[in-house]
Amino acid sequence: MTRYDTVLVLDFGGQYCHLIGRRVREQGVYSEILPHDAKVEEIRLLGEKLNVKGIILSGGPASIFDADAPRLDVKILDLGLPVLGICYGHQLLAHIAGGKVGRAEIKEYGSTYITIDKPVGILKGLNRKEKVWMSHSDIVFSIPNDYEVLAYSENSPIAAFRHREKPIYGLQWHPEVSHTEKGIQMLRNFLFEVCGCEANWKMDSNFIDQMIEEIRFEIGENKAIIALSGGIDSSVATVLAAKAIGDRLTAVFVDHGFMRENETETVRKFFQAFGINLVVVDAQERFLKRLKNVVEPEMKRKIIGEEFIRVFEEVAEKIGAECLIQGTIYPDRIESGFRRFSDKIKTHHNVAGLPTHIKFRKIVEPLRDLYKDEVRRIAEILGLPKELVYRQPFPGPGLAVRIMGEVTKEKVEIVRRADKIVREEIERSGLGESLWQYFAVLTDTKSTGVKGDARAYGHVVAVRIVESREAMTASFAKIPYEILERISTRITNEIPEVTRVVYDITHKPPATIEWE
Ligand code: XMP
Repeated sequence: MTRYDTVLVLDFGGQYCHLIGRRVREQGVYSEILPHDAKVEEIRLLGEKLNVKGIILSGGPASIFDADAPRLDVKILDLGLPVLGICYGHQLLAHIAGGKVGRAEIKEYGSTYITIDKPVGILKGLNRKEKVWMSHSDIVFSIPNDYEVLAYSENSPIAAFRHREKPIYGLQWHPEVSHTEKGIQMLRNFLFEVCGCEANWKMDSNFIDQMIEEIRFEIGENKAIIALSGGIDSSVATVLAAKAIGDRLTAVFVDHGFMRENETETVRKFFQAFGINLVVVDAQERFLKRLKNVVEPEMKRKIIGEEFIRVFEEVAEKIGAECLIQGTIYPDRIESGFRRFSDKIKTHHNVAGLPTHIKFRKIVEPLRDLYKDEVRRIAEILGLPKELVYRQPFPGPGLAVRIMGEVTKEKVEIVRRADKIVREEIERSGLGESLWQYFAVLTDTKSTGVKGDARAYGHVVAVRIVESREAMTASFAKIPYEILERISTRITNEIPEVTRVVYDITHKPPATIEWE
């Protein structure tokens, strides 16, 4: 195995922590995320497998003054490795060094300009004024003499600093988000100038062969089962596993009844054409039954997740598979592992999150170290169809979380038809590829309308179309009115139960992308 040059990211709970890891990998440098309290011994041990060249401390929601604020094993700073603190990481480094950190009088949130006094190290090659993205309420007021200030902003007197002799840097802003215009250059400076990394991480067919070999080795002569959702992760894991163990693999597709139009059939056709053993379980009635009278979104998510596991367990037992293969990707693994300091927004149900208590001899997760864009790259190399590789994300609980209030068969049918119209019109307009997601939501409001000279009283459908790079933030898309008009006309004409269509003009944050 290649011993990749690696930059570790210590996770202080910031919502952009993963983005840091991804940005590093995008530059060809391998990255892994560790909990903020990783011990120096752990990092030394990782050194046997990876060529650790630097450490980044992420941002986080805490203030260093909180009693339970996340801390760092300070011995890490003595490893002699380059360290970059971002936002909370920046404040923490200043605090550890004996600098003064305090509440800012004015919180900085959003785009702002910094003035760079010393364009060196991480700031090499940048202009005196640069546009960056800040999101913080504490700031660094002073830093001891063995450090020097590199940049300031209107409200942050020490927006960037570095140690005069050691490769230790702090940035108050977030270089990893795209709103920091030269953010990539800053990260590249850290990786290549400060850490001296070589860009030797890449996704290619050698890497795929290694994964297939690993699956073969792990499964041995046993039979394995995989939960296939039709999403990119489980699809790629299924194809890799089938290449590794052939017909000793069974893929299980649980149709909970909240799939989009034709979804089940498309998945069935594609995987059968690939010659993969596929079991499609029609579980529509039992999911609907369990959701009867349930209106609370988190409850819906929980029930769907649990029921999914039950169905899967039953099939697994019948097939008698000893091993489970999962399409878990890196962010899933980290989220369920140690992210103690990030705030929970909603429970994501993902087939990757299976199963908590089914007994398997072994669980194999071939994609466990990969980010979504890397999985897409594998899908392309494997020759998976474009519709699958660039499919818009679809939540595990499906259309059920796009129906406000109780989920009924009638409502599922309405939102499914509306969703199909939104997809058709957006794809026909050619905008699909530039958008993150486009779909319909069935609100729990009814409204008066007039259809064919008669009063009508029907459902209100909301159309949600967003642009995003990683779903952490999103903007509602400024779709031309003519397209929105076509969507609204078709929905009200083709779905008699709908009298009104509204367009959701909320960004994330403050809204989330899905309505529930
Ligand atoms: P939110 O609504 O949290 O969604 O802004 C962010 C992204 O995640 C997708 N999503 C899910 N994906 N299981 C998934 O696999 C889920 O339960 C789930 N809920 C939301 C959502 O479509 C968006 O792309």
